[in-house]
Amino acid sequence: MKGIILAGGAGTRLYPTTNIISKQLLPIYNKPMIYYPLSTLMLSGIKEILIISTPQDINKFKDLLGNGENFGISLSYDIQEKPNGIAEAISIGEQFIADDDVCLILGDNVFYGKNLPRILKRATDEVKENNFSLIFGYRVKDPERYGVIEFNDNKEVVSIEEKPFEPKSNYAAVGLYFYKNYIVDLIKDLKPSKRGELEITDLNIKVLKNNKLKTEILDSVFWLDTGTHDALVEASNFIKTVENREGKKVSCLEEIAYKYNYINDEQLKKIILKYNNEYGNYLKKIVK
Ligand code: G1P
Repeated sequence: MKGIILAGGAGTRLYPTTNIISKQLLPIYNKPMIYYPLSTLMLSGIKEILIISTPQDINKFKDLLGNGENFGISLSYDIQEKPNGIAEAISIGEQFIADDDVCLILGDNVFYGKNLPRILKRATDEVKENNFSLIFGYRVKDPERYGVIEFNDNKEVVSIEEKPFEPKSNYAAVGLYFYKNYIVDLIKDLKPSKRGELEITDLNIKVLKNNKLKTEILDSVFWLDTGTHDALVEASNFIKTVENREGKKVSCLEEIAYKYNYINDEQLKKIILKYNNEYGNYLKKIVK
């Protein structure tokens, strides 16, 4: 399975903070935001990843993450010319996806929890072995801000609506989508919505209508919001609290790469030389 991170958008809700910098490069506590979705893909066992951003920002992501060799993965980059919607990431990534299945994650989605690696690994395996695609619902206080999933008594999806005025449930569709390869065909006749965007919710409705959408409720991990200034501070405080309490870092890409044997001792030691700070000291402690 391949991975795509969409880190586009104008970030207008966070102006002036995002006037000249991409939202997904802003820090969540002690790392750039994109580290978090990238770690989610790595924990899913995905090693070939395409990062999509705007023409202005794409080079900053390249400077930050390079070709992925520091994390033992392969990173490539592409551009979304205009904010034409999340689902456009699938069209942009068509050649990259080729004959594979694909996991799309939004560059501003932060997941954390002890069960996360297990859930992600299972999701990847299930989609590989079956013909369904998989999305997740997460209970929130303010569902009208998200795609909203309605379930029946058997926990099957009945409907999905994008930012409805009257949400039919409290379950938001998180920005993490495991798709079978047929998604590349389904996107081709997807029409833009009233606001002129290729909506991810419309794409998921198409999969649902083909009876190929499975939805699970994520209740043993945290899904953090980064959409407002308050949410950014709260996410930073959350990560800070967890890290300081447990003495472990969340979404430390080098640590994940090392633990998953994507990089060896020598490679990690070389990376450590770059960090003459607490991050480097942390990495030193994890080398065997
Ligand atoms: C997007 C999707 C929405 C989803 C959300 C998750 O909304 O359109 O369905 O619930 O991401 O982060 P946006 O954050 O772009 O408004």
